[in-house]
Amino acid sequence: MATRIGTEDNPVEMLEHLMALDFDAIEAYNAAIERLENDQWKAQLATFRSDHERHTHELAPLIRAMGGNPPSGPGAKAMLTQGKVRMANLMGDEAILKAMKTNEDDTNTAYERALAHCPPDACEMLARGLDDEHRHREWLIATLEGRPVQEMPGRTTSTRPGSQPPPL
Ligand SMILES: [Fe+2]
Ligand SMILES: [Fe+2]
Repeated sequence: MATRIGTEDNPVEMLEHLMALDFDAIEAYNAAIERLENDQWKAQLATFRSDHERHTHELAPLIRAMGGNPPSGPGAKAMLTQGKVRMANLMGDEAILKAMKTNEDDTNTAYERALAHCPPDACEMLARGLDDEHRHREWLIATLEGRPVQEMPGRTTSTRPGSQPPPL
């Protein structure tokens, strides 16, 4: 399912919609975590949910400073919550991760667009947020493909040269 969030002409509205999308993602993660059987996956998804929670905390003051009204939930524009409802009918952990991957397709697209049109005060936050969204999506893809996910670098991981592990 596609999202149009990030294409708004009004930058405050764009950030309000983005924040509502983060609330929507939190709801979807709640549903996923509740239904998953794999405890490791549950724990990983809980850290992704925390990232989305942090995004709402970071977006709120930016929106207020721009004269907008931070939303208090997904609101009427909720789209991922459809996924949450669908999830009630899903069988198995893999199906749940697949649903979350399509949700993250949307959050990634929305953050990419928002960053491309970022209001000056929001650019740094949006860039860090997009890093988080990339990480969520990458983990879901790797896990669904059965690839070992060696290390999920957090936002504070340094990228100093020479920090790559030696070849085996
Ligand atoms: Fe987010
Ligand atoms: Fe995400």
